[in-house]
Amino acid sequence: MFIHSFPIMVLVLAFLMFCQLTCMSQGQLRVGFYSQTCSEAESIVRSVVRDAIETNPRNAPILLRLHFHDCFVQGCDASVLIDHGSNSERNAPGHIGLEGFEVIENAKARLESVCKGAVSCADIVALAARDAVSLIGVPFYEVPTGRRDGRVSNISFAANMPEVDDSIQLLKSKFMHKGLSHKDLVLLSSGAHTIGTTACFFLQKRLYDFSTSSSSDPAINPQFLPKLKALCPPGNVNDKIPLDAVTESTFDEQIFRNIRDGFAVLSSDARLNDDINTKQVLESYINNGSSTGRPVPSFKLDFTKAMVKMGNIGVKTGLQGEIRRVCGSFN
Ligand code: HEM
Ligand SMILES: *[C@@H]1O[C@H](CO)[C@@H](O)[C@H](O)[C@H]1NC(C)=O
Ligand SMILES: *[C@@H]1O[C@H](CO)[C@@H](O)[C@H](O)[C@H]1NC(C)=O
Repeated sequence: MFIHSFPIMVLVLAFLMFCQLTCMSQGQLRVGFYSQTCSEAESIVRSVVRDAIETNPRNAPILLRLHFHDCFVQGCDASVLIDHGSNSERNAPGHIGLEGFEVIENAKARLESVCKGAVSCADIVALAARDAVSLIGVPFYEVPTGRRDGRVSNISFAANMPEVDDSIQLLKSKFMHKGLSHKDLVLLSSGAHTIGTTACFFLQKRLYDFSTSSSSDPAINPQFLPKLKALCPPGNVNDKIPLDAVTESTFDEQIFRNIRDGFAVLSSDARLNDDINTKQVLESYINNGSSTGRPVPSFKLDFTKAMVKMGNIGVKTGLQGEIRRVCGSFN
């Protein structure tokens, strides 16, 4: 038996070795990438994130958003963290309001002291987003790692970030360009907006300058419109209001009901109701107690799958890029 299967085993081994080489050069991430080189990597990130959220619960949405903004420009390569003056990507209009840089830098400093030069800033950002959401009620999910840090940061490269006043067609196509489906768009954007806040800056157009025929977005529920206007008066750009007007601090599917019923805060969330495909996705997560017997998929579980997908956008692996010593500057 053993004698007969021996040549097959040799073939299988040869294939596995071949795969390890080629798979690496083809940009595959894998769970547990640091198990040999920095076994404490994930637990260190997690403890830094836990401390940051205990000190300030706002760090949960902040770290989640940072990962999205990193991945959508030049891939998930920590390009958004670079701070080399006014031309840095992070100063782009598409990144307005980003925070959390010091949490990532803090995790990086601790990792450098334990395993110098091993863990990329891009992986820290991805792990921190996972830890942030899993500390507030999203099921824990494995994050494939092995990302390398990019060597480019340019303010003009963030010009195509999804924007709050984009049409549903444009939002879908911007996600499609990153390999993300209309389902991922619903899960990730409105899914993430179940927590966190927006500056009134992002509501001005929707409330006061929506279109030639209507000063405010007709998709806003008439009961909600005066409340939103009171929270964000004309010209007020700095006040912050919850993105989920009903359950602002719970990571739940309430945001989908809000959108369906005209209680979305951001225009980009409301637009998910404008398209038959995205509308169907968001309604599929609403358990409306109908007697249809329709199984309601788990929003949180599907959110984690979409997060892993987003974390794969344009990653650099193997010999590409570098492992930064400090996340805010190139080596
Ligand atoms: C359709 C694409 C999207 C648009 C147009 C959009 C737009 C926005 C805007 C305008 C804000 C308010 C920012 C501020 O005032 O500081 C915001 C906040 C936020 N976004 Fe998005 N977003 C999108 C997708 C996503 C995705 C994919 C994620 C993560 C997976 C995400 C996570 C967040 C979080 C967590 C916040 C709250 C941040 C905080 O409280 O500081 N967004 N988004
Ligand atoms: C940034 O990108 C623009 C457009 O591609 C290019 O013209 C410019 O030289 C770049 N700036 C730097 C500092 O690399
Ligand atoms: C409830 O769910 C069913 C099945 O998806 C759907 O046809 C119906 O329109 C929903 N009702 C409301 C009020 O959303």
